[in-house]
Amino acid sequence: MIMKRLLLVLIFLFLVTVVVGVNVTYDHRAVVVNGQRRVLVSGSIHYPRSTPDMWQGLIEKSKEGGLDVIETYVFWNLHEPVRNQYDFEGRKDLVKFVKLVADAGLYVHLRVGPYVCAEWNYGGFPLWLHFIPGIVLRTDNEPFKAEMKRFTAKIVNMMKEEKLYASQGGPIILSQIENEYGNIQSSYGPAAKSYVNWAASMATSLDTGVPWVMCQQQDAPDPIIDTCNGFYCDGYKPNSENKPTMWTENWTGWFLSFGGAVPYRPVEDISYAVARFYQRGGTFQNYYMYHGGTNFGHSTGGPFISTSYDYDAPLDEYGAPREPKWGHLKDLHKAIKLCEEALVATDPTTTSLGQNVEASVYKTSSTCAAFLANVDTQNDATVDFNGNSYNLPAWSVSILPDCKNVVFNSAKINSMATIKRFVATSVKDEVSDSKAVSSDWSYVSEPVGISSNDAFDKKGLVEQINTTADQSDYLWYSISIDVKGDEPFLHGESQTTLHVKSLGHVLHLFINGQLEGSAIGIAGQPDFSKDFPITLKHGMNKLDLLSLTVGLQNYGAFFDKTGAGITGPVELTGGSTVDLSSQQWTYQIGLKGEALGLGSGGSSLWVSGSPKSQPLTWYKTTFDAPSGDTPLAIDFTGMGKGEAWVNGQSIGRYWPAYIAPTSGCSECSYKGSFGPTKCLKGCGKPSQNLYHVPRSWLKSTGNVLVLFEEIGGDPTQISFVTQELESLCSHVSESHPLPMEAWSQDKSTRKLKLESKPRVSLKCPHPNQVISSIKFASFGTPQGKCGSFSHGECQSTTALLIIQKACIGSRTCIIEVSATTFGEPCIGVVKSLAVEASCALNT
Ligand code: GAL
Repeated sequence: MIMKRLLLVLIFLFLVTVVVGVNVTYDHRAVVVNGQRRVLVSGSIHYPRSTPDMWQGLIEKSKEGGLDVIETYVFWNLHEPVRNQYDFEGRKDLVKFVKLVADAGLYVHLRVGPYVCAEWNYGGFPLWLHFIPGIVLRTDNEPFKAEMKRFTAKIVNMMKEEKLYASQGGPIILSQIENEYGNIQSSYGPAAKSYVNWAASMATSLDTGVPWVMCQQQDAPDPIIDTCNGFYCDGYKPNSENKPTMWTENWTGWFLSFGGAVPYRPVEDISYAVARFYQRGGTFQNYYMYHGGTNFGHSTGGPFISTSYDYDAPLDEYGAPREPKWGHLKDLHKAIKLCEEALVATDPTTTSLGQNVEASVYKTSSTCAAFLANVDTQNDATVDFNGNSYNLPAWSVSILPDCKNVVFNSAKINSMATIKRFVATSVKDEVSDSKAVSSDWSYVSEPVGISSNDAFDKKGLVEQINTTADQSDYLWYSISIDVKGDEPFLHGESQTTLHVKSLGHVLHLFINGQLEGSAIGIAGQPDFSKDFPITLKHGMNKLDLLSLTVGLQNYGAFFDKTGAGITGPVELTGGSTVDLSSQQWTYQIGLKGEALGLGSGGSSLWVSGSPKSQPLTWYKTTFDAPSGDTPLAIDFTGMGKGEAWVNGQSIGRYWPAYIAPTSGCSECSYKGSFGPTKCLKGCGKPSQNLYHVPRSWLKSTGNVLVLFEEIGGDPTQISFVTQELESLCSHVSESHPLPMEAWSQDKSTRKLKLESKPRVSLKCPHPNQVISSIKFASFGTPQGKCGSFSHGECQSTTALLIIQKACIGSRTCIIEVSATTFGEPCIGVVKSLAVEASCALNT
């Protein structure tokens, strides 16, 4: 009897699992969810790069933008900063993030890694790994594999306990093990192959019930799917005919480095790449990043990765849609989804329609979808397809969900563009209504050189990361020199120089307490040699070299062994040379202010004042939260290099003194292959001036801001700025596809129904705003882009009035691009409508 009951309970439990759980498998065409092949659009959002209060909004905007899946890495060093001590609180609350994605009805791709690269400190590895005896990371090495397995299992079990795998009814449909190991594995010799096989079977043995992928791993063993990363992945073929073609990283821009100009990637090129991928058989594509966000604290990798991880992603650093990128990709996703039935039904048949023009058709007896591509980097084309004529701009793809009507062309943007600016907010203080964060500062001077009882002496120069274990960015190398006047380096005509060779990343040299100069590596080449001209006095001279790391290496074979700091030689040179390298040095890890916890504002050491241009200074002030709810940042103009804390939380390293090169920012065309340095802006300017201050970190009054400045600045110059909309624009031609909303598919006939003409549509981003003015309007042949439109030879005289009437006072307005609306200004010419408007609060 008891046995029978138990059996019934077991059967019931089994049925419940089967009913709520979703079966995720794959075949050669696609990821298969509950027996159905799916065309999936995914986007990366890394949970610690925003604040938990932002997550829901980011996920909603992703859904609205047409994503099915949110992808995130899991960041090992964030969750296990100390071995066996886990942390999943606040921004580290992975379970909460995954559940929010589920609540929105989206899927999750969980890239456990646990090596992640990601421009994240040490590629996501906790630094303590490095100190485990006998360990070699990312290869067939027992100590490493034991740690990797422990952490991977920890995460998988955590997800299982919360029932977050699709097999349990949760949102996770895919997981990733390792990351791009194939790119560097040849450096690890034969052990690499056995490591890959081990990683694959370790992952599969964890029994998640959903498929695992390895990216850039062409030898990924079954059942792991090998996937592609890159700016383009059309033509990628997985290593088995049973695996689908998947693109795990489509880089929507590129990361910014301190000292570099700001990279961007035109949406015409991204949408071209995506459309080409689905055209050529792909069924899963992920934007890396869909929202890049901010590298708070010391989370940046590098070295030299900036605090902003904006990435030119469809959602900007602060979470707002970047237009027209977000909107144009949303249109693309709808177009692809209109093709889903045909895409999953069959393989494409591709034919050439002429030089550099090809058509791919997905056709069965009941459905047909086609992609027409012009891969020429210069010449537009007109082609015949299925008895109709189609215009294809250079480097563009048209999507025809019924093999007849073009609903989308990657180079023809229907969605609106916006111009956003960060505008100074006035802060009321007792003295004035100024734009500065504060005029009321206190400060503490950080001692130059050794100040701690924990300092230690050692003969010779030490490597920095092995010494600090990344507990601080800072390591003092100090030595005293007694000058009697007969030293060899004082002889001869030449000036005395101090020659320093360092593995990087930054060095500040102090002689007798004064900052003499700095040396800075550059992204890609953090090491440097520098000759500092110096003057020594008779008697004792104190040489204090402050060596800094700016984010630890995150990429490359054996990246974890890349050293930093002054490994020498250090020489004094004049007439002849004295090598100081093997002498006795005194070392101090970290700063006194760090040991005292000055970042959170405590301590009785603060004195009133804000001395300018003073190296090694801590500054503190209090402030009220700037009003409103628009994204908030601090403009650090006036400061040099350092770190900033708001109410004790680090908003990251700041470095407005590091200026991008003056050249390399010329006009860039979306046509032709993209690369990280093709499209750059901000040449000759600080790489990063604005630093995100999450609103959720603020109270209404009495917030504490602390800065640590290394080279000298003026804190009274820094200001709060908020992100404001300057203009809304749209420029749509009569020749554009109809607006995406106009296309709907009749379920029974599968015919596309057309409901309108090409049109301009504008919408103020906030519900409490309305269009307040029309700055420009032209129907005819207007030129230029948002912010700098100009009239062409042909223009209707009524456009401005008509648009003012249609738009002002409303949040949204839609205007058909046709001579019926505006009258005919020039017969026989293809015309377009360009509008620039502004929004204001609806009062
Ligand atoms: C890839 C890597 C990512 C990220 C990206 C560049 O190689 O997998 O984690 O680092 O490059 O942003």
